[in-house]
Amino acid sequence: MAYLKPDRPEKVYVPALRKAKKRGEKLICLTAYDYPTARIVDEAGVEIILVGDSIGNVIHGYGNTIPVTLEEILSATKAVKRGASRALIVSDMPYGTYHINEDQTVDNALKLMKDGGAEAIKLEGGEHRVKLVKRLVDEEIPVVAHIGLTPQSVHKLGGYSVQGKTTETAKKLIDDAKMMEDAGAFSIVLELVPREIAEIISSELDISTIGIGAGSACDIQVLVLHDLIGLTFGRLPRFVRQYADLRKAMSEAVTSWMEDVKNGNYPSKEESYGLPEKVDIEKIKRKAVG
Ligand code: KIV
Repeated sequence: MAYLKPDRPEKVYVPALRKAKKRGEKLICLTAYDYPTARIVDEAGVEIILVGDSIGNVIHGYGNTIPVTLEEILSATKAVKRGASRALIVSDMPYGTYHINEDQTVDNALKLMKDGGAEAIKLEGGEHRVKLVKRLVDEEIPVVAHIGLTPQSVHKLGGYSVQGKTTETAKKLIDDAKMMEDAGAFSIVLELVPREIAEIISSELDISTIGIGAGSACDIQVLVLHDLIGLTFGRLPRFVRQYADLRKAMSEAVTSWMEDVKNGNYPSKEESYGLPEKVDIEKIKRKAVG
């Protein structure tokens, strides 16, 4: 079965997720916020690119996702769209862009799709978003739900900790996931959820679960690309496996170039441009040019 394998360059659309789940095929999602990273992860074969509001932490240095604006996600989505030709592009609805009323939410989601090129949107929340998700789906906007740790609720939650650690809250996660499926979401992110609960949700739902810090039973795994490649600052969460150290590589490259400039080793003759022979450089030096 090679339907979604990277060597088959078919564009990934929403229905492909359900088909892959039925076949038991694991899919991959990574974040990207710009043209080069979108192009790299798309060419590597990831099936879903999330233009996540983690852009607030990773790119803008805000410290959390609260200040991220629709314009920032819109601009990032446009760049990602230009870089990715195969992956399904999902854009996050930033904090405050789906909180006022349904009409404004639809308007904002349509901007991400029409102006940005998003093919689906993601928003945070469970039961209290049921009506909103239904409305978006009614307007032909594909929705990814997001439960468990919802970083836009950082102030309410008081930090970034594993959710669903009591019988009641674990049961609530399962109920919320089912409600999101019934409301029409085509997929659901489970963030920082105990693996046993993610396993129950993944087996009970027909839609795909996208896990981050939620164990291996999820249908799709997602990570923040910059965590994976070592381009973030601070302590990494325990679920992140870092595959490269780009911070170190970048720092070494910059330091080497600085040394070369200071030692007179850059630029070399080959890295600069000479005058054509017909130009009389001596005349110029003698200031003898009219
Ligand atoms: O914004 C983001 O990157 C996300 C993932 C962590 C799922 O929401």
